[in-house]
Amino acid sequence: MTTTSTTPADLDHLLSLVRTSVEVIARHQDEGGAYPASPTFSAYKGYAWFRDGSFIAEGMSRAGQVESVDRFHRWAGDLLLSRAEQVAALLRRADAGEELPVEDMLPTRFRFDGSDGQDPWWDFQTDGYGMWLWQLVEHTSRHGLPLEPHCEAIAVAVDYLLATWSKPCYDWWEEHVEERHPSTLAPVRAGLLAVAAAHGTDGTALLDGERVERSRAVAEQISALVAEEAMTSGRASDPSAAHLAKWFGSEMVDASLAACVVPFGLVEPGSAVAEATLEAVARDLEVDGGVHRFQADVFYGGGQWLLLSALLGWNHARAGREAEAWRHLRWIAAHATDDGEMPEQVPDHLRHPDFRQEWLDRWGPVAEPLLWSHGMYLILADELGLIPDTSETLS
Ligand code: BGC
Repeated sequence: MTTTSTTPADLDHLLSLVRTSVEVIARHQDEGGAYPASPTFSAYKGYAWFRDGSFIAEGMSRAGQVESVDRFHRWAGDLLLSRAEQVAALLRRADAGEELPVEDMLPTRFRFDGSDGQDPWWDFQTDGYGMWLWQLVEHTSRHGLPLEPHCEAIAVAVDYLLATWSKPCYDWWEEHVEERHPSTLAPVRAGLLAVAAAHGTDGTALLDGERVERSRAVAEQISALVAEEAMTSGRASDPSAAHLAKWFGSEMVDASLAACVVPFGLVEPGSAVAEATLEAVARDLEVDGGVHRFQADVFYGGGQWLLLSALLGWNHARAGREAEAWRHLRWIAAHATDDGEMPEQVPDHLRHPDFRQEWLDRWGPVAEPLLWSHGMYLILADELGLIPDTSETLS
């Protein structure tokens, strides 16, 4: 464990936040399995996202909270099964060459009972469905659990992605529905590849041959498309500094691009593109360990997001830059409340301070706790060896 400038008291604090994160997530998880995005925040209350949920599940799975994560996956699986006919029809129409209207797609977020919400939202985002497939395979292989019980739900998610992957859709921040984003395509590809390679307990492939073949073909197409259309031109002085772009044809960076390296491996960790992408995120969006979403972000004035600090730290940890990873973990810990709750973002350094009040007036104080922040803290803490192997030691 490299704790360089971490004192025993700091370490105690970091460890106590591991326990609090598990406790906050467990306390707010719905009986039926959904992980609420934020139990109190006006605009998220009563809703669960596949994107947030998958990262929260990854944190809880690493913390040994097997029952909680199983329950989340059963919730997500049942919800998908209840939409199997809708998805089958979408795939038939896509295969027949029909242009699918956004209104016909699955929602981005759901009520805890699995129903669609009544409030209007920026629906049509595919990333969460890929993340769910990816996390389900991570979780079951980490804990030696069978995938077979989820087989039919997996097929629904796969079919949905096969029908929709190439369409522009809203990004991680629920913006720019007209664009195609590497951060969306990365989890779609990772999820499809994970289930295409998955086996049942009897050693046979989990998915039928046709789905496996189609999933692998889409994954290849995504890699080729991104290499061709989603790279920036690099700096004039150094064209080899080209990195992944926020969307196809853009020169901008977005902190969610770090996920295209770790965990989703759209670009090979350690490759020139991966390193240039992480450098661009750090250079343009990190200030003192906190990470902004993107330069033009005006949401609550464009603060620094705890979950993005963890995502960058996770990447540093995997690249062997442990001191950098610890710096991010400590920054997150320093922005938890005295009760150990973690907000979505903090206003220490705002990109566009003039916009903050407008959001405070519209939606009230920033989301806190945000369960995704806690999930990401667990992941980074685990990368740095702070999570013991068993759930007992956490209670
Ligand atoms: C973010 C999404 C997130 C949602 C719930 C939105 O403000 O843009 O990425 O999934 O909140 O946490």
